[in-house]
Order: sequence, then structure tokens, then C-alpha cells
Amino acid sequence: MNDKWTPDSWRSKKGKHMPTYANELELKNTLNTIREFPPLVFAGEARSLKAKLKEVSEGKAFLLQGGDCAESFADFHPDNIRDSFKVILQMAVVLTFGSSCPVVKVGRIAGQFAKPRSKDTEIIDEIELESYKGDIINGIDFNEKSRKPDPERLIKAYNQSAATLNLIRAFSQGGFANLNKIHQWNLNFVEEDNAKKFKEISSRIDECLAFMNACGINEKNVRQLYETEFFTSHEALLLDYEEALTRIDSTSGKWYDVSAHMLWVGDRTRQIDGAHIEFLKGIENPIGIKVGPSTDSDELIKILEALNPKNEPGRITLICRMGAEKINTILPNIINKVKKNGNQVVWACDPMHGNTIKSNTGYKTRPLANIFSEIQQFFNIHKSLGTYPGGVHLEMTGQDVTECMGGLQEITDEDLKNRYHTFCDPRLNASQSLELAFLISDFLKDEKFLSAKSSSL
Ligand code: PEP
Ligand code: CO
Repeated sequence: MNDKWTPDSWRSKKGKHMPTYANELELKNTLNTIREFPPLVFAGEARSLKAKLKEVSEGKAFLLQGGDCAESFADFHPDNIRDSFKVILQMAVVLTFGSSCPVVKVGRIAGQFAKPRSKDTEIIDEIELESYKGDIINGIDFNEKSRKPDPERLIKAYNQSAATLNLIRAFSQGGFANLNKIHQWNLNFVEEDNAKKFKEISSRIDECLAFMNACGINEKNVRQLYETEFFTSHEALLLDYEEALTRIDSTSGKWYDVSAHMLWVGDRTRQIDGAHIEFLKGIENPIGIKVGPSTDSDELIKILEALNPKNEPGRITLICRMGAEKINTILPNIINKVKKNGNQVVWACDPMHGNTIKSNTGYKTRPLANIFSEIQQFFNIHKSLGTYPGGVHLEMTGQDVTECMGGLQEITDEDLKNRYHTFCDPRLNASQSLELAFLISDFLKDEKFLSAKSSSL
């Protein structure tokens, strides 16, 4: 780490995709208020996630990271939080049961508000206004007042994150995630085949639990049967906010960004000499780096060395988002370079952001076939290079939306208009998410089987 690092040293660097506030004094006062707010997460929890990601980097666990592209103030409702949590739990059960591999659950939740946009402004009927940049910055309504960056929104985002996290902690530890309640995690709109497959797994888990109970092992004496661990993450895009929540941890004396357990840097803001990399250098949290098709592998190595000079396993997750058409030509070179250089990383696949298209009906969408294809290629590439495909990063929701095309529900471009609710990118609905979990579970089973065989040779 650079000696001169401070939580605000990013301010001397060029930072992309951050807003300019008209009233600087108001911004400053708001940030000073946030500086006094309690941390949203405890540094020890971020360390525990790092230890789990180390296990992932060693091929002993699998990372499931998912949630909204953008959380919004309008969709803030306990049912939405509960349903997103339920789907992630269901997916984790499918993955764990199918592959006997522990799953590290990380939500894109409780802070995923700020968005980089392809254009800084938007023109409708010859009126040009600032683009919508996420509810923590401005509003989605197309009028001057709503599109103006407003510091008050930072406080609202913090409060919503705190309340969301509170409910997640209650669900995780209060009995909702109890494996004996597995049948209650079903969402009633999930497509029949997926629901049936999940019921089968649930019944088999019930049998295992009954057997274990007969042996004296149950939720009263084994904590893992009663509760689960769930971590939060978001893109560290709006550095004003992240800086205000960066604190020295009293137990280790080190800096942590206490807005979430894990933070990631987006594909558009990961310049080696930019503000975002500078900020992330000094915090101890686990860090994700989005790796898109334009990635220069030499620059990536420099970023890895800047963010992880001690090459600590679990510190860095490379979230690859190439697109089904490009992954095979681009990813192997990047993996080879990182492998040759000896950098410790978790390899995760984001099959969403490289597969966004415009439907014939004019919606931004993602065909499930392409999402499946990118994941399948991701697994195959790692198999051929002898590296471990450690996780997936998904944009998904527990709601019954129609935003991504295809899957067993056979959502067509005509269906997209029915329930297209996203504030930003199209998300998998609960049924599509579960379908994907079954697919990944098969790949993972194969992966685990092969590695078990090779290690016994
Ligand atoms: C995102 O994850 O919503 C995002 C903007 O991704 P990327 O930085 O990979 O484009
Ligand atoms: Co997105």
C-alpha cells in the first residue's frame, strides 16, 4: 500500500462516473453527518468473508453473488427483500446438495444503488437532462428536479441499507434459514419443473435431517442447521459515500469500508491511475474487479499488484463478464497471464453484462441461452487450463418479473412488457435463477468429481 493512502486520497485522481453536486456545502455537511453514523457491517465479518473466499480460491467452496442491478427507493419493501433472500437460499441449497460443495452467499444488496451509465445525459423530445445514475444520486423521473444530483439521497440510501441489512440478519439468524423450513422457501410462481426439482431436493434433505436428528444432531446443537451466513456487496462507485463510511477497525487498527462486506470496482472505473483503484487500495475488505472484453492483461496484473501487494488469497475476486460470443477468445489469455504471474484470485463468472441485447420489442434484455452458454464455456475453459471456476455473479430478483428472455417459462420478446420492472439492467426472475442453479450444480458436480479423482491419483 502506498504510504500516502488516506480515505480521501482518491480525490487527487481522476474518477469516472461520479456526479457533480451543485451545492458543495450541502454535500459536505451531508457527508459529515454520514461520518458519524454507525457502521453497517463489522470489520470482523469482512475478514470472515475473506477467509471464506480464500477457501473458494483453493477450490474448496463456491461463490454465489447475486441481487438487483440497482436497488431503488420505490421497490423498498420487506417482501422484496424476503423473496430475494429466499431465492439465494434456494440456489445455495441446490448447489450445495448437488455438488457437496459449501456455498458462500453474497448479495448485491443493502447498498447497490449507484450506477455507471453509458451516456452522461439523456435526450427525450429534444430536452437534455443528466442520465439517471441510481437512487443514491438522482431520480429516474425525467424532469429537471428529479435528475439533479441530491445529497439528501445519500442519507436515504444509508437508511435503506441499514434497514435491509437488519432484516437480512434477522432472516439469516432468526430461524428463517433453518434447513427444517426448507419447504417454506418456495415461491409460488416458480415454473413447475423447477419447483418440482426443488421439492425433490427438499424432501431428500428432510430425510437426511431426520436421520441426523435420530443420531442426536439437530438444529439445537448444530448452529449451521438453524442459521446461515449471508454477506453484502455493492459497486464502490460513489466514493464520497464510501469514504464517509471508511473507518479504522479498533481490533486490527486497519481501514475498512463498513458500507458492505465486499466492494467491487466496475469495468468502466478500474483505471490503474484512477480514483476508484486508489480508494480500494487502502481498505482491507475483500475486493471484486469486473473484467470485461476490453481488459488489457498487463494492466490487470498491475491492478492486482496495486490492490493486493501481499498476494493474500481471498482478497481479490475477478468477476469476468465477457459475453457468450467473446469469452472463448479472450478469457483463456487472461487466465494464463494471471496464473503465470502467480496472482491468487477467485475466478467468478458474471454471465449478465456481456449478454445484454435489445429485443425486437425495444427492451434491454438478456437471453437465458446466452447466459447458460457463457457459464458453460467458463467452466470448460477452467477445466482445460486446470484452474478453478470459483463462482457466479448474477443480476436476479425474487420477484416474478419478465426481463430476461427464455428459460423453462419460455419468456418471449412479446412477454417482456408484462412485468418489466428493473431500474437498470434486466434481471433473472426466481424461476430462471433456480433453473440456472440446477445447471451450475451439474457443472460443479463434474468439476468436484474430476478434482477428487485427480487428487486421489
Ligand atoms: C453492474 O454490475 O451492474 C455493472 C455496471 O457491471 P460492469 O461494471 O461489469 O459493467
Ligand atoms: Co447491471
